[in-house]
Amino acid sequence: MPAKKNTARELLFGDLWEFDPAPESAPAHITARYGLFIGGKMVTPKSKKYFDSISPRDGKKLSEIPLANAADVDAAYQTASTAFKSWSELPGAERGKYLFRIARLLQDRSREFAVAETLDGGKPIIESRDFDLPMAAAHFFYHAGWADKLDYVAPGRRLAPLGVVGQVIPWNFPLLMLAWKIAPALATGNTVVLKPAETTSITALKFASILTDAGLPPGVVNIVTGAGETGAAVVNHPLAAKIAFTGSNEVGKIIHRSLAGTGKKLTLELGGKAANIVFDDAPLDQAVEGIVNGIFFNQGHVCCAGSRLLVQESIVKEILDRLKRRLATLRVGDPLDKNTDIGAINSKEQLTKIQQLVKSGIDEGAEIHQPACKLPLNGFYFPPTLFSSVSQSHRIAQEEIFGPVLSILTFRTPDEAIEKANNTPFGLSAGVWTDKGSKILMMASRLKAGVIWANTYNKFDPSSPFGGYKQSGFGREGGKHGLLEYVLMK
Ligand code: NAI
Ligand code: MG
Repeated sequence: MPAKKNTARELLFGDLWEFDPAPESAPAHITARYGLFIGGKMVTPKSKKYFDSISPRDGKKLSEIPLANAADVDAAYQTASTAFKSWSELPGAERGKYLFRIARLLQDRSREFAVAETLDGGKPIIESRDFDLPMAAAHFFYHAGWADKLDYVAPGRRLAPLGVVGQVIPWNFPLLMLAWKIAPALATGNTVVLKPAETTSITALKFASILTDAGLPPGVVNIVTGAGETGAAVVNHPLAAKIAFTGSNEVGKIIHRSLAGTGKKLTLELGGKAANIVFDDAPLDQAVEGIVNGIFFNQGHVCCAGSRLLVQESIVKEILDRLKRRLATLRVGDPLDKNTDIGAINSKEQLTKIQQLVKSGIDEGAEIHQPACKLPLNGFYFPPTLFSSVSQSHRIAQEEIFGPVLSILTFRTPDEAIEKANNTPFGLSAGVWTDKGSKILMMASRLKAGVIWANTYNKFDPSSPFGGYKQSGFGREGGKHGLLEYVLMK
């Protein structure tokens, strides 16, 4: 009899500790076909065209999403422009009431939205339930509080709204990115035309019903769906006073070029290749948890993911051993299961991109480590992956993979860590793990990144501005800095 082949998990913990399935069963209330949300109503697209939203969990169709054309986008801008006059003239306290209502309604329907987010985008239910939904509500609460206090944002100056703002968002945090964009725009008196990403439009279209229930005046927020062409129509519409974009560098550059000379305000939040730096004096247990959270949170579909681990040379073996053991305990699979740590990859295209970059890592000579795990047969899945013996020139050390793949590099001195960390066209985030406060301050002042976490990773708060340097973009979201991106100062 051939010996039974054990998975890494079984070798560590034996067969006894398998989990029973724990599927989330709350209904997501997804409609078979949606309309565009324009002028306070769900309308049939003038294009008469629809596309499928499929679930990366099993590859099955969830709903039909309207494909907005230029005429649809124009209708959204016209109604947003009409709504601007009365909305911008409302007293801040009145605008704030709508934002508070939206926040509370999101909380009321939080479980339903979390399930919809997980079905449509593939992220584990524990994350959509415990992170995306509470954070989305928190952004509305936070900005509701600002709406009647705008005179105190920049003392001595008066803030005026810009007009209609066009917003194009990505698929990694669909509802949360919507909240990051819509909440500050409304608090400051602007009206909105927003386009969600084509693979994850469902929670944005469901959100339209929250706006209706909150009694938001028609036209203040409009949601148009579609892919790149629809996004370009949103960006290039003459009535847009400002464009806010989160997504790839490639599209960010196209938008930057097309807006040059138009006078439109622009904020870009693009990619990253963050260094998560671990010194030999760091608390290793916490550091390993922080490394795992930094790269495997949301399947690594995170612009600020700690995708380059820089480890001080003397502890690299220790860290690699601990990481391998920890990886064996991560549960990859059905995102609707409450025990799942790593869910589905957002789309087939993204899975292909991850597979190609991982292949390049192997071809270029890095050493790959993956735990033995059984991936579901249908849907899009990728195992948590570590690469050791990575050098600076490898593609996996340079390019954003946007998947559960960590590249491990080493350093000897703090100077070398800073040199390597900053040696990237990006500058969105970084992490520092050490026992010494002085070292944290020294590193933070020399790392060129918009957000630096110390002895933690991926911590967010609506009051804390987020944004990048260099090719990671410009402008900030959250906090006072984020509000200022939506106003003229007089
Ligand atoms: P993408 O940049 O194409 O998509 C983001 C949004 O832009 C979507 O709503 C899309 O419909 C829209 N869009 C596409 N072309 C446009 C155009 N010409 N004008 C206006 N809007 C347009 O991102 P994609 O292709 O889905 O992902 C590719 C890579 O980009 C990922 O692998 C990842 O590395 C990076 N990315 C980074 C994100 C971030 O949070 N910084 C988010 C999404 C992707
Ligand atoms: Mg694209």
